[in-house]
Amino acid sequence: MQAVAIVLAAGRGERMGAERPKTFLELGGEPLLLRAARAFEAAPSVGRIVAVVPEREMAAARERLAPLAKLLAVVAGGERRQDSVLTGIRQLPEDFDGVVLVHDAARPLVDVELIEAVAQQAAATGAALPVLPLVDTLKRVRGGRVVETLDRAELGGAQTPQGFRFALLREACEAALRAGVTVTDEAMAVERLGHAVHAIPGSARNRKLTTPEDLAWAEAVVAGILRT
Ligand code: CTP
Ligand code: MG
Repeated sequence: MQAVAIVLAAGRGERMGAERPKTFLELGGEPLLLRAARAFEAAPSVGRIVAVVPEREMAAARERLAPLAKLLAVVAGGERRQDSVLTGIRQLPEDFDGVVLVHDAARPLVDVELIEAVAQQAAATGAALPVLPLVDTLKRVRGGRVVETLDRAELGGAQTPQGFRFALLREACEAALRAGVTVTDEAMAVERLGHAVHAIPGSARNRKLTTPEDLAWAEAVVAGILRT
């Protein structure tokens, strides 16, 4: 049973300060969305790709993604990330019993090795994501005053792809919707159900591009100036 990848590109990307949504910004001459989708196209465990994009970018996205043999659908996303994920999920047959990998197109440097590791762990345990250790010491700050120092050894940054058995992901996303809860990633929706989520090592290369500085970093990586 091959996995389905849902590539999320429907965010506004305001912190990038560009006119078009950031997933259509170019990195090494290629839109971030296409670059991210191509990693899944190259991953042996992935059978199909669903792209979730802003409504008014549907035609442009269809055209750019057309060369991908695994493309199943290009659909319009929603207001919040979790709404975009639900639109993606609804493209899959009800009885699909494989793994779904949800990925941020804003992480265009994801590699096949990480995709395969997440897919394998999700198939084995139901839910998995890459987590990157943090470098800074973390403080909880209230009203400009430090109220707590958190134990860094126990903390990490959540990356994507996040992989889940399809039925579990659908149940978790629908439960969050019914409860009126906003979740910031899919793993959080699954955690709410009390289901174990397995962490595998994340990768520095798989950084989320949020600001113009992130994009400059990625250009240097793609150009071979920076090694990750
Ligand atoms: N995303 C989405 N639908 C939304 C919100 C986010 O598909 N309603 C996607 C983004 O396109 C991105 C990923 O989720 O690939 C992670 O979100 P983030 O990095 O926060 O991207 P943006 O929401 O685009 O950026 P920002 O928060 O800086 O505006
Ligand atoms: Mg956002």
